Amino acid sequence: MQRPAGDIRPPEAGAASGERVWMNRWRSWRLAAIYREETRTGPGGWILRDSRRVDAQLCGRLPLRSRPRCQTTRHAQVMTLQGRTEVVTGGTSGIGRAITARLLREGVSVAICGRSSAAVAKVVTDLDRSGTGKICGTPVDVSNSDDVHRLFAFADVELGGVDILVNNAGVAILHSVAEMEPGDWLRSIDTNLSATFYCCWEALIKFRQRGAGFIINTGSLLGKNAVAGGATYCASKFGLNGFSEAMLLDHRQENVWV
Ligand SMILES: NC(=O)c1ccc[n+]([C@@H]2O[C@H](COP(=O)([O-])OP(=O)(O)OC[C@H]3O[C@@H](n4cnc5c(N)ncnc54)[C@H](OP(=O)(O)O)[C@@H]3O)[C@@H](O)[C@H]2O)c1
Repeated sequence: MQRPAGDIRPPEAGAASGERVWMNRWRSWRLAAIYREETRTGPGGWILRDSRRVDAQLCGRLPLRSRPRCQTTRHAQVMTLQGRTEVVTGGTSGIGRAITARLLREGVSVAICGRSSAAVAKVVTDLDRSGTGKICGTPVDVSNSDDVHRLFAFADVELGGVDILVNNAGVAILHSVAEMEPGDWLRSIDTNLSATFYCCWEALIKFRQRGAGFIINTGSLLGKNAVAGGATYCASKFGLNGFSEAMLLDHRQENVWV
C-alpha cells in the first residue's frame, strides 16, 4: 500500500489490513528518522545520542503502542573502540587479563595494574604486539587512593588520557561472619568497593576534559544473591551495584556511561 510522498500522518486505529502494513512501515520509518535526527558526532569522534531528546521525540511523535519498551539511556551511546585508551585494574590475571587481550586486538591502548610488579611486567611482555593497541602497566594497589592517582598520571603520560575505565581488580574472601577477621572485611571492601570509587573519581576528571567516557565495574552474581560464607564479598558487590547505578544518574548528562 502506497502513501503519497511526504504523508507522515499516523494510520487510523483499527485500520484495514493494507493500512496495518502501512502502520508498521510508518513506525519503523519514524523510529529510524528520530534516531537519525538525534545522533551526532561528539568531541573526540564519539557518536552520541541524546537519550532525553530521543525519549521526548518518541513520546511526542509516536502513538503509545509503537514506543519501544526498553528505551534506556544505557543503550543510547555507540562507540568505536579503535584508537581508544583504557585503564584496566587487575589486568594481570583472570578476567582482567582476558579483557586486556581482547581490547588490544580491537585497537585499544591499555594501561593495566596489579600489586605485583613481576606479574605486571610479564603480562605487558606477553601481550605486547598481540594487537594494534599499545599495552603498558605499573604496579599499583588500587585500595590506596594515592596509588590510584599515580595510575591515572601514568596512563596520561603513556597513553595521552583515558576514554574507558574497567574496574576489575577484586578479591573474594569467603568466610562466615563469625570466622571473619576485621582485616578480611576491610580488604574486601577496600579492594572491591572503595578502589572503584577512587578510580571513578580520577577517571571523571579525565572524562570531563574529553567530553565523554565509559566505566565498566565488574560485578558478580553475589552482587544480586546472598550466599552462606559470602557476607563480606556480597556486601562489597551489592554496594558496587548501588554505587554504579547512582553514579550513572549523577553523570550521564556529561556523557559518562556506567
Ligand atoms: N572469577 C569469577 O568467577 C568471578 C565471578 C564473578 C565476579 N568476578 C569478579 O571479577 C573480577 C576479576 O576476577 P578474577 O577471577 O579474574 O580475579 P583474579 O584472577 O584473582 O585477578 C584479580 C586481579 O586483581 C588484582 N588485584 C587484586 N587486588 C588488588 C589491589 N588491591 N590492587 C591492584 N590490583 C589488585 C590482581 O593482581 P595482584 O594480585 O597482583 O594485585 C589480579 O590481577 C573481580 O572483581 C571478581 O570479584 C569474578
